[in-house]
Amino acid sequence: MAVTIKSPREIELMRESCRLLAEVHEELSKIIEPGITTKEIDIMGDKLIRERDGIPNFLHYNGYPASICVSVNEEVVHGIPTKKKKLSEGDIVSLDCGLIYRGYHSDAARTYGVGKISPEAQKLIDVTKQSFFEGIKMAKAGNYLYDISNAIDDYVTPFGYGIVRDLVGHGIGTSLHEDPQIPNFRQKKKGIRLEPGMTLAVEPMINMGTAEVEWLDDDWTVISEDHSYSAHYENTILITEGEPEILTLR
Ligand code: MF3
Ligand code: CO
Repeated sequence: MAVTIKSPREIELMRESCRLLAEVHEELSKIIEPGITTKEIDIMGDKLIRERDGIPNFLHYNGYPASICVSVNEEVVHGIPTKKKKLSEGDIVSLDCGLIYRGYHSDAARTYGVGKISPEAQKLIDVTKQSFFEGIKMAKAGNYLYDISNAIDDYVTPFGYGIVRDLVGHGIGTSLHEDPQIPNFRQKKKGIRLEPGMTLAVEPMINMGTAEVEWLDDDWTVISEDHSYSAHYENTILITEGEPEILTLR
């Protein structure tokens, strides 16, 4: 599929979808505390999306059984919410969430500490978030797609962390996943040239240890192979002639 350029009308709809998703994330951040189950987070997220006339785009996506991906500690992404899993003080938890509003998809992820966490865990969260901002400094018309990938890699690699390679960011619009794919690690080629009106989900996933991941038997949950902590940070952005617009941040 070709990379889509959104019209002004579509950009307005993307902005609206993403604004609603930013609100959902803001509300979800308030309920993260020791004792809550990952299922309770999913139920709340689903409710927050539907209250805003959104449709949870993850629910039933390729059979995924929930509206929010909740990934704890060594879980990288796509953790399945369950009432059997309670968050504990010291955990880190990634919430990945998306919605459809009037036909347009939004997608964003955040990683939070639960109660007091170790300085090492906090650093992983902070570096992962900053790597997104380093990457999108390159996200403007005229630059190449992999300038984003290379900037993320250049920022993260000196910390000794493992940048996940098996999962990547993506274009987004009337589908959750559109072309292009956006790796978070150095590329040999340049990639496509960025143009105004592209909407992209940039989403570094960073492990404290090895970059290698494996899938649990549920065929969804991705974990770091060495069981080291993993963090995820994602926003949907709009390419312009200048600074990108970060659509899923308020
Ligand atoms: N944010 C993820 C992505 O960009 C989550 C989608 S997987 C799903 O691919 F199955 F949970 F929907
Ligand atoms: Co995504």
